[in-house]
Amino acid sequence: MNDLLLRACRREPVERPPVWMMRQAGRYLPEYRKVRERADFLTMCGTPELAVEVTLQPVDLIGVDAAIIFSDILVVPQAMGMALTVDEGVGPRFSSPIRTAQDLKRLRPVEPEEGLGYMLEAVRLARRELDGRVPLIGFAGAPWTLASYMIEGGGTKTFAVAKRMLAEHPTMAHELLDRLAHAVGQFLVAQVRAGAQVVQLFDSWAGALAPADFRAFALPYLARAARTAKSAGVPVIVFAPGAGWALEELAEATGADVVGVDWQVEAQDARERLAAHGVALQGNLDPTWLYAPPAEIERRTRLMLADFGGRGHIANLGHGILPDVPVAHAKTFVDTVKQWRPQPA
Ligand code: CP3
Repeated sequence: MNDLLLRACRREPVERPPVWMMRQAGRYLPEYRKVRERADFLTMCGTPELAVEVTLQPVDLIGVDAAIIFSDILVVPQAMGMALTVDEGVGPRFSSPIRTAQDLKRLRPVEPEEGLGYMLEAVRLARRELDGRVPLIGFAGAPWTLASYMIEGGGTKTFAVAKRMLAEHPTMAHELLDRLAHAVGQFLVAQVRAGAQVVQLFDSWAGALAPADFRAFALPYLARAARTAKSAGVPVIVFAPGAGWALEELAEATGADVVGVDWQVEAQDARERLAAHGVALQGNLDPTWLYAPPAEIERRTRLMLADFGGRGHIANLGHGILPDVPVAHAKTFVDTVKQWRPQPA
């Protein structure tokens, strides 16, 4: 049984860091695209057998040290009653975004075993099929990131609509965030009960907010969800890309075991700043560099590994893998980590 990830989360000694890639079950794999030909994305998320099939692909094909359950962060707003579509070339869209107090009232509370039972079933099935080969990671979107999708109705470059709600109707925004913190916390606990051995919270749009706004509208709700998840007894990873300035506050407020580091933060800097916080670090190769020739991927991966120093590090990309990266290059990244050994101090 490969438990490198679990040991790294606890900062125990490891022969080498574990490695996995955010968005590792995805379009860069021909085997994923094959399944996608038979079913659209949300059908895949909603069908445990298909979700588990693609969850296992990167374990079998690339040799990563962890599986992450195939799903999406937007299944939570969907379970609250928001109609969601994910179309080719358009991305995720909510047809009736949250703009008024009336819209907010329409949202249903989430009972994970009911509204998200298919995802929990996928977790149970994935654990069974993994049979201890590698640990299984569960996940959810953090309240601010989910709220911004729900308010905007889809992806955005400016976050103008979501941020406008913070400015014009802060009370309404806080109410939405509060409901999401509760839903996400309960959902993560349910994933752990179903068999998730580690959980990760993605606050993908953290970088849209000024520090004071991040502290008011994102961090407290992320922290609440993380602490609820933590009470279920497994390691918690928090990842807030674009908020590298907040690493210490993230560690402090969330009580997380692992803090994700995006590619804008230098490993040495993250290590120094978090040395006193007792957390492990996850990251952080810029996913774009997986387009480079394999020798360059190898060189940069080794530099990253040396900079993080081995112990208490989970090797990963600094954000999700891009959909048209050559499979061989993803494998070079993973193999480089697997061959690397920390230098004796
Ligand atoms: O990491 C994994 O392999 C697990 C699966 C996973 C997906 N999305 C699969 C997916 C995870 C952890 C996510 C999280 C997610 N989803 C985030 C947070 C992570 C991050 O990147 O910051 C966000 C912001 C979303 C919302 C979302 N869903 C986006 C932006 C997209 C891409 C839209 C597009 O067409 O490019 C999706 C769809 C999605 N989620 C795909 C996958 C594999 C592609 C869907 C397809 O096959 O067409």
